[in-house]
Amino acid sequence: MSRPRSRDWLKRHDADPFVRQSRAQGYRARSVYKLIELDEKLKIFRRGGYVLDLGAAPGSWSQYAASRVTGSGKVVAVDRLPIAPISGVSIIQADICAPDIIETLGLELAERKVDVLISDMAPDITGISVADAAAFSEIADAVRDLSRTMLILGGIMVFKVFEGLESQAIAKEFSTSFTALRRYKPKASLGRSRELYFIGSGFRL
Ligand SMILES: C[S@@+](CC[C@H](N)C(=O)[O-])C[C@H]1O[C@@H](n2cnc3c(N)ncnc32)[C@H](O)[C@@H]1O
Repeated sequence: MSRPRSRDWLKRHDADPFVRQSRAQGYRARSVYKLIELDEKLKIFRRGGYVLDLGAAPGSWSQYAASRVTGSGKVVAVDRLPIAPISGVSIIQADICAPDIIETLGLELAERKVDVLISDMAPDITGISVADAAAFSEIADAVRDLSRTMLILGGIMVFKVFEGLESQAIAKEFSTSFTALRRYKPKASLGRSRELYFIGSGFRL
């Protein structure tokens, strides 16, 4: 039998309009509406573009990205969890902090760089702030290294951060790599959540 707290969560989840909409539209997660809002505002994807989706399971961001790049474009989705197949998406099950990740991605992309790198990753939150900040820093370092190797000059990055988890330091560091760095909290981000998104455009070395 489910406990009262999980029952409450399930009730809230079922009543959530973004959950209902994602079910109706065939998306695997409500988080797709965060990406759609960012794309509508900031024009992230273009036809024929190459996209790297980090921390992609269950796959709603990749579903949307694949629908936007269509035809000659390509989406590569990476997660340490398995992802069920998505039309137009190459799936790699791996940890993005693994030492051979750049080699693995390079092979999948035939050494072509990507136009857009998106990351919706979150560490497993423990509630111990020092440990959570350290886990998130590890993710941010890996994403920064991947962007330096995989992103084309002028490319775009969408990166989820959490207020309080080194977000100021991460913003400072990322801002040197992009001509513009915007912060955005989409409507589908739950009000109580500390998550927000950095959108870097005009990648430079
Ligand atoms: C919020 S979910 C992503 C949801 C996804 N954007 C979607 O719309 O379906 C975050 C994902 O990041 C993955 N993740 C966290 N750390 C990771 C790491 N070091 N390497 C690979 N995946 C990671 C988790 O396994 C989880 O599936």
